[in-house]
Amino acid sequence: MTKSSWVKNASQLATLAFDKKGPRTNKAMSELGLIEDGSMWIENGIIQAVGTTEDIEKQYADRLQEAEVIDASGQLVTPGLVDPHTHVVFGGIRALEFEKRLEGTSYMEIMNAGGGIHATTRMTRESTEEELIEQTTKRLNSFLTHGVTTIESKSGYGMNLDTELKQLRVMKELQQKHVIDIVPTFMGAHAVPKEYRGREDDFVDYVINEMLPIVAEEKLAEFNDVFCEKGVFTPQQSERILEAGKRYNLKPKIHADEIEPYGGAELAAKTEAVSAEHLLKVSEEGIRALAKSGTIACLLPATALYLREEAAPGRRMVDEGVAVAISTDCNPGSSPTTSMPLVLNLSCISMRLTPAEALTAATYNAACAINKEDSIGSLETGKLADFVLWDVKNYQELQYLFGVNHVRSVWKKGMKVVNLGDSAVAANAGVVMENF
Ligand code: NIG
Ligand code: FE
Repeated sequence: MTKSSWVKNASQLATLAFDKKGPRTNKAMSELGLIEDGSMWIENGIIQAVGTTEDIEKQYADRLQEAEVIDASGQLVTPGLVDPHTHVVFGGIRALEFEKRLEGTSYMEIMNAGGGIHATTRMTRESTEEELIEQTTKRLNSFLTHGVTTIESKSGYGMNLDTELKQLRVMKELQQKHVIDIVPTFMGAHAVPKEYRGREDDFVDYVINEMLPIVAEEKLAEFNDVFCEKGVFTPQQSERILEAGKRYNLKPKIHADEIEPYGGAELAAKTEAVSAEHLLKVSEEGIRALAKSGTIACLLPATALYLREEAAPGRRMVDEGVAVAISTDCNPGSSPTTSMPLVLNLSCISMRLTPAEALTAATYNAACAINKEDSIGSLETGKLADFVLWDVKNYQELQYLFGVNHVRSVWKKGMKVVNLGDSAVAANAGVVMENF
């Protein structure tokens, strides 16, 4: 039987619909396809029609009775947020390292002394699949309550075949078990493991010859990422890994120019990477290369804030014609957060994106950064009914009232998966009062 839902009376529906396909740049990043008194008709989890409440009422006049009504009065409705860059599957946490960094030790110093990524690698190697599933589920739940309905997820805390496969299998299992959609990325080259110190090229060979073929054969990943950074992988080593991945149909992504300018953005353009990530220290040439190649810049302002660094030059990139997406970079070291709303706020505050550009970066362009723009990232006929009701009247308020989670409810494939509405608050308040 057909299950129909009718979203009606949204004070503003940001559809993100646009007449051209592909990552949005320049002025197109401000085109949100806004509808006042917005409405949607949904059947079996797929959007059938989008318009004003009056439009939809007329179009479905003879079927209004059969639909579940989703009253969005006074609320903003947007596509479900998409987080195109996370390291969400990991064992343990690194709170002590946070303290150390505040006392003056740098992120790279900690990593080179065997902490940082290496510490998480140790803890991930020691974790069972069940433990990883349990810890990751909590984080996925938190993503969901912050309005995120699809995430990308990288391996990279294994740095040996067994643990890389373990992380990727955890993602596969969670993709089946959890309502969030997970797009897997292989990142065997996240750091050079201790065992390979001084033999970096041997590790690159190991990634290419021993890991990539099995990851591809088991169909465990769609993308292939590498940390191209001074002291980690050189642009030459990174290129070898990315080109090898391409031979297995794994599309390249790059952690580029995060700590120092290192030609990462240029390499992303050269290898036709889907996205270049971080880019705090991107060169002018790198910005031009990204604009020309169409490689998406995936910017992570929460990471910059957490490392107490200046954010990537997001404003300049948009002005130069680079397609920008934004992400949490959720990981236990440089960005232990699951809050995309915070990232939206920071994109405006730290990178001077406008609220409209930031919303495009967290929805449609983010979907492009994981090659999923045909099914998610905007509210259009034929796409998945992944959407969020926010307790604000318009998209400007969403960004202006910062550091707060405005989610009221989250819908995944037409199903309500989060409900933080007034009644939930009232019920909880009641419990507190009774216990008091
Ligand atoms: O994207 N830069 C490299 N990788 C992660 C951090 C990983 C960690 O510190 O555990 C990042 O920021
Ligand atoms: Fe990252």
